[in-house]
Amino acid sequence: MKFYIGSDHAGFAVKGPVIEMLRSRGHEAVDLGPESAERVDYPDFAEKVARAVVDDDGSFGILICGTGIGMSIAANKIDGIRAAHCHDYYTAQMARAHNDANILCFGERVSGPGVIESMIDAFTTTSFEGGRHSGRVEKIMALQKSH
Ligand code: RB5
Repeated sequence: MKFYIGSDHAGFAVKGPVIEMLRSRGHEAVDLGPESAERVDYPDFAEKVARAVVDDDGSFGILICGTGIGMSIAANKIDGIRAAHCHDYYTAQMARAHNDANILCFGERVSGPGVIESMIDAFTTTSFEGGRHSGRVEKIMALQKSH
């Protein structure tokens, strides 16, 4: 799988380890910043990653901030994005299986390294189930086009 990764200052410390984790499992990981732990605004990096995912068919994203909340809210503003704010293996697994999420969001201040690793395992090994979930995902995407 190909991943675009971004964080803010509150997620910066785990961004590197997450990239290493993905690469060690054979995935492609593109670091979209930031390059230091200096204070930044999470919507800027959510937008970068979300636009990269939309522009690169079949790719995925990972966004890390303090809680995962701001990143998911911001990324979901971009048409074509289904960013899932996850907390554990089960939520990351369901985000792919039922919601066909294309961006995984989580919080460095919330989830420890073991939980982060389990979320990445779940997200990278689970496929969208389709079937009854397809129509629901289509309805979500149609909502983004309305006002
Ligand atoms: C930064 O202090 C913090 O607000 C941000 O990382 C994130 O948690 C927002 O949702």
